[in-house]
Amino acid sequence: MSTIWDQLNAHHRAIAPRSIAGLFDQPDRATRFSAQAGDLFLDYSKTNLDEKALGLLIDLAQDAGLEQRRAAMFRGDKINATENRAVLHTALRSPETAPLVVDGADVRPEIAKTLTRMERFAAAVRSGKITGQSGARFTDVINIGIGGSDLGPVMATQALAPYHDGPRCHFLSNVDGAHAADILRGLNPETTLVIVASKTFTTIETMTNAQTVLDWLRAGIGAEIGAHLAAVSTALDRTTKMGIHPERVFGFADWVGGRYSLWGPVGLPIMLAVGGKCFRALLAGGHAIDQHFQTTEPRQNLPLLLALVGVWHRNICGYGTRAILPYDQRLGQLPAYLQQLDMESNGKGVGEDGAALAQKSGPVVWGAPGTNGQHAFYQLLHQGSDVIPAEFLIAAQGHEAALAHHHDLLKANCLAQSEALMLGRPFEVALELAGQLGFAGDAQRQQAAHRSFPGNRPSITLAYPKLTAFTLGQIIALYEHRVFVEGVIWGLNSFDQWGVELGKELATNLLPMFQGGAIENKDPSTVQLIKKLS
Ligand code: F6P
Repeated sequence: MSTIWDQLNAHHRAIAPRSIAGLFDQPDRATRFSAQAGDLFLDYSKTNLDEKALGLLIDLAQDAGLEQRRAAMFRGDKINATENRAVLHTALRSPETAPLVVDGADVRPEIAKTLTRMERFAAAVRSGKITGQSGARFTDVINIGIGGSDLGPVMATQALAPYHDGPRCHFLSNVDGAHAADILRGLNPETTLVIVASKTFTTIETMTNAQTVLDWLRAGIGAEIGAHLAAVSTALDRTTKMGIHPERVFGFADWVGGRYSLWGPVGLPIMLAVGGKCFRALLAGGHAIDQHFQTTEPRQNLPLLLALVGVWHRNICGYGTRAILPYDQRLGQLPAYLQQLDMESNGKGVGEDGAALAQKSGPVVWGAPGTNGQHAFYQLLHQGSDVIPAEFLIAAQGHEAALAHHHDLLKANCLAQSEALMLGRPFEVALELAGQLGFAGDAQRQQAAHRSFPGNRPSITLAYPKLTAFTLGQIIALYEHRVFVEGVIWGLNSFDQWGVELGKELATNLLPMFQGGAIENKDPSTVQLIKKLS
């Protein structure tokens, strides 16, 4: 009996000669292959998906148990089986009050309490009520964290720059001393607040950077640095050991994965930058998508559709990467954020049962904002030998009313790219062009070969009115749920990250070898490199 995967593959083979552009012979193609959720409009009509493929993909998701898995996640079941944890970042952005029970206790009151504590703290820092040791107002915040304790706040703080009316925020993540040195160089310890953000409070990069910054504070203002410190963690015993007063510690539970954590205390730098009201708008945006995801029928369900496009491209078309191309300078960090969200969640080789996956899982996620990318790597998108599905993001309006002409150019460029990817430029057209440019004979044909574009390259476009906090919340939640749906279809656990552990262990083992210890049990290449670098 053929499986849905078989049927999808057979359909794909059958439609192989067909072009994406040709699908628009169907007059309502553009509207049929788009959907709206809140502020977000997804156009996926410039892909090779048709009714039959979409129907099969929806069946695939249902067959994988999507509805049950989704209900289990929102209900607080321990769907992160390898870590025996619930997955409830959605609860951090939910205004609902009905009890949500994990391990016998309702988690809602604690979430609300922590949010209120964060708001009070952020408001007091922003207003100058909470000051540094000398009574001077905080002008700068350093958030020390890495991975999920860094990428979300970095991305969202930049995205919400128009609303930024709090202290300047700096993000120290890399253990490379250059990062600490470059950030500290410009700062005054007397007016700097330091947040140590680490879910586990054991991450070596963050602990090392924290000690360096604590020493810098002590050198600048003396031994009493408590007024300059706050922490974000699930490990409250460890924060106390670092000398951070419990009132300055914002905790969260183990059911919030690092890469899903910006909605809670990890979002403290965002709140310090833009204020509690704006942060709540971000949460509301995320929650709006949670509701949409749970209640909307498949053909209009944005996270589901985005995931199905992803599975189609990854598994059926065999494309190994996806490019995230925000035509929104302030979403410059979105590709890096989505890299962790997507690749740490779905970059796995075994299913929930520990058996090898039957299908390929997460693709390589990469990207950069347009229009800059156009002048760097788009050459390969248009004429390279690999097909790379492109995912464009674009706002109807920018925040800079006086620079509306810039925004028109931005929009024109964004749409030009998806049009060029789909339509390309046929050889005959390029030949004519080369002729107009004065080329003839062989030279004309040669020029035409270089100037023609294959086209038929898929892209999707996510359009929104303006990048507000509410919209940003929707965008992030949309991608979170996309990752979830894809993980369900591939049958893997999107919420653990065992693949990062081996490197950490080996780094711990290697460190003494750079500090005069014996070089033992290492392959010849590694031995050679240790010697070269010592
Ligand atoms: O190394 C991977 C990872 O565990 C991520 O999942 C996490 O976001 C990051 O490290 C930071 O972890 P922590 O917040 O515990 O310092």
